[in-house]
Amino acid sequence: MQAFQAAWAAACKVAASTMIVPAEHVFLVGPISFSGPYCQANIVFQLDGTIIAPTNFNVWGRGLFQWLEFTKLVGITIQGDGTIDGSGSMWWQETPFEDPVDNESEFIIPLNKTVQQHPPMPIRSELNGKMPSIKPTALRFYGSFNVTVTGITIQNSPQCHLKFDNCIGVVVHDMKTSSPGDSPNTDGIHLQNSKDVLIHSTDLACGDDCISIQTGCSNVYIHNVNCGPGHGISIGGLGKENTKACVSNITVRDVVLHGTMTGVRIKTWQGGSGSVQGVLFSNIQVSEVQLPIVIDQFYCDKSVCKNQTSAVALSGITYEKIRGTYTVKPVHFACSDALPCMDVSLTTIELQPLKEQYHLYDPFCWKTFGELNTPTMPPISCLQIGKPSSNRPQSDHDTC
Ligand SMILES: *[C@@H]1O[C@H](CO)[C@@H](O)[C@H](O)[C@H]1NC(C)=O
Ligand SMILES: *[C@@H]1O[C@H](CO)[C@@H](O)[C@H](O)[C@H]1NC(C)=O
Ligand SMILES: *[C@@H]1O[C@H](CO)[C@@H](O)[C@H](O)[C@H]1NC(C)=O
Repeated sequence: MQAFQAAWAAACKVAASTMIVPAEHVFLVGPISFSGPYCQANIVFQLDGTIIAPTNFNVWGRGLFQWLEFTKLVGITIQGDGTIDGSGSMWWQETPFEDPVDNESEFIIPLNKTVQQHPPMPIRSELNGKMPSIKPTALRFYGSFNVTVTGITIQNSPQCHLKFDNCIGVVVHDMKTSSPGDSPNTDGIHLQNSKDVLIHSTDLACGDDCISIQTGCSNVYIHNVNCGPGHGISIGGLGKENTKACVSNITVRDVVLHGTMTGVRIKTWQGGSGSVQGVLFSNIQVSEVQLPIVIDQFYCDKSVCKNQTSAVALSGITYEKIRGTYTVKPVHFACSDALPCMDVSLTTIELQPLKEQYHLYDPFCWKTFGELNTPTMPPISCLQIGKPSSNRPQSDHDTC
């Protein structure tokens, strides 16, 4: 820990400096922030070794939102072929568990690899702390410009693997995230309030959304991504607790989804405001995906949510070349009664049920308007062509 802090302090003072985490070493590192704003620009964090998170809950206090944090930097690159391992399995249990390794009050110890041969299942213990209610994100960037993440692997995060919040100019490529499909809330890449984002050539396996795009994101371009296991690529949930959400100019193309829960999805809560405008999903190959195409404006994480008329307005959503196999329902469009989805365009949709599935559903649409440019397979006759007869109420509410 101190070694990392000292190295960062030195790197921070020199523009375009490089901080090296050497290969062939495993570093046990506690929660740490590599922060500006007084650092020089264009620092490179060269990660060739492995960084693992402590498994003693006491280290996390009441809970932390992130484990490794980079904040308020201009030009920060994480590169290398190293690994960030969040030791997530103990966080994924319902009840607190504790790791038998005892020597973790010193957070940075270059460990030899034998540490990884400890029994993988932690032993239950009352002595070493309770599981905090907040589970940390493995690697988070906040309030930074021109951030690049490439080469590395992020695995077994307690919660989200890689998060960008309030960043402008983000490039993520040739990296991967890896966690089991049943690890709860482990998003691959999570974007929030971030603009000018490019994600390409990455393999994302996790237990929640491979990529999650939240409010305040615009000019996001995603291509050549493999997703699975996971919940697919999602915009939202937006508008929770009557909040305003604004998302625009999102392109997702040349993506392969295998065995995921949903494919490409937009989800909003009832009662929100703001808008999602200008989304293109193009050349999406799905295989064994439960629900390849989803818009859900009734998103709810409990069994019942209150019905509300206000909604995040959805318009200009284009689907082209969405092909492959599904296991439950090919298309599910559930739009708001008060603010129907507008300009939903479908071109070259070819979705086949996986053979030997029993409970298959037909395409579903509710209050969804737009156009079918080519015949679809199966036919999506529930889409309403054109615009709603009464113009939907437009108000300041929608403006972003
Ligand atoms: C980010 O990078 C772009 C392109 O290299 C550059 O024009 C811009 O000035 C950089 N932003 C900051 C805040 O340095
Ligand atoms: C939309 O985002 C792309 C990057 O994905 C960018 O090149 C383009 O200029 C943006 N369009 C607008 C109108 O901002
Ligand atoms: C909300 O509206 C739907 C559709 O009109 C209806 O089926 C459902 O019962 C309503 N739920 C509540 C909690 O009022």
